[in-house]
Amino acid sequence: MPACRICQTPFEPFLEFGEMPIANGFLTPEEVEDEYTYELSVGVCPSCWMVQLVDHPDPEQMFHDEYAYFSSTSEGMKRHFRGFAEWVIGDLLEDRQDPFVVEIGSNDGIMLRHISEAGIQHLGVEPSQNVGEAAVEKGVRTIFEFFDRGTAEEIVAKDGPADAILAANVIAHIPDLTSVLAGVETLLAPEGRFIFENHYLGDMLDKTAYDQIYSEHIYHFSLTSVSDLLARFDLEVIDVQPQPVHGGSMRYVVAHTGVEDPTPAVEQLRDRERSRGLDEPSTYKRFADAVQRSRDRLRDLLSKLRQEDARIVGYGATAKSTTVLNFCDLGTEHIEFISDATPAKQDKLTPGTHIPVKAPDSFREDYPDYAILFAWNHADEIMGKETAYTRQGGKWITYVPQVAVVD
Ligand code: SAH
Ligand code: TYD
Repeated sequence: MPACRICQTPFEPFLEFGEMPIANGFLTPEEVEDEYTYELSVGVCPSCWMVQLVDHPDPEQMFHDEYAYFSSTSEGMKRHFRGFAEWVIGDLLEDRQDPFVVEIGSNDGIMLRHISEAGIQHLGVEPSQNVGEAAVEKGVRTIFEFFDRGTAEEIVAKDGPADAILAANVIAHIPDLTSVLAGVETLLAPEGRFIFENHYLGDMLDKTAYDQIYSEHIYHFSLTSVSDLLARFDLEVIDVQPQPVHGGSMRYVVAHTGVEDPTPAVEQLRDRERSRGLDEPSTYKRFADAVQRSRDRLRDLLSKLRQEDARIVGYGATAKSTTVLNFCDLGTEHIEFISDATPAKQDKLTPGTHIPVKAPDSFREDYPDYAILFAWNHADEIMGKETAYTRQGGKWITYVPQVAVVD
């Protein structure tokens, strides 16, 4: 039986997806033969309630100099991170003299560029060279490293303690959280704040968003599991702020223990998690059953449309779509190609299912009958700019929170 990475308690997986490729492992036809796979399954620790993968690829296999995810591809995310940076500059750092900000997983500089433009001392820690270079071009000071205890010690020795450590959509990606939090504990100034956000477990369960489960998402955080984890260090959550991005995220504001009283929102969320059963195995069993039903419905819908000779394309070659396509066994017989605005994904094949990824021009030049929205978390932005598609009769298919054709 696998053991919890945080507290070593044995746990059983509640959902098994079978063999899966790396979610962002878009590939060329020549690379298909050697494609790497692993067994994707997820479980919950019955002691600290951390939801986690049983197995995962090594971080170096996922984050490298050809990483496919560029954060700044979405206008909505650019706005979100500008707002995040403005809050850090205006509120958090307001009274600090010559502050120092570190971001873990700074990617193409979507957030730190604003900190840099404000003339604030900063450092991005980013192991994926290609996306990190895009940040350097925006004036973001970056080191090409995985953040861990060792990296934190080096930063403190060179630059001193950090007034703010920021991390978006990255802490849940790091298998060795003990090393990360020991690093945060060392690097964070006595009065500093560690602020991280990730997709939120409660939203994932409510929306049957099983596509959040893929190679990079080693953990699915709740306040319950995060509080238990931080209590093992000199760190505690002092505020929680729900965010609409990535299908429902949670921002955790963390300080050294005892520095500031937690806001009432912390206790309220803890109560809500208890009443919605995040600490009950039956909750996860119900989710697993809903996932199986969702798969059957999506397969049935696409098969029926294909029997009627409808043309279906995908919109957004997301990491999330790798789970959906492979788990539902959907290939080019269902989906002709997937449209995506990221140059690093275009003219490649989707991981495992080998559906071609094409630039949005291909979508606009010859509209299909149906477009399945794999980037459902960007629905407003995408539907907002593709109104010509719907005006001429095109329809959207979505599967979160339910499989449906949107008129
Ligand atoms: N923060 C950005 C990027 C999220 S994608 C956003 O929210 O859009 C996750 C990023 O974390 C990738 O760029 C990846 O290379 C980086 N990453 C993965 N493991 C890391 C680690 N141990 N330390 C720092 N960055 C890491
Ligand atoms: P995203 O949903 O952010 O995440 P993940 O890969 O982690 O599941 O990815 C959005 C993808 O959709 C990304 O590849 C960019 C693409 N995209 C478009 O092609 N057009 C758009 O208008 C937007 C917003 C995104």
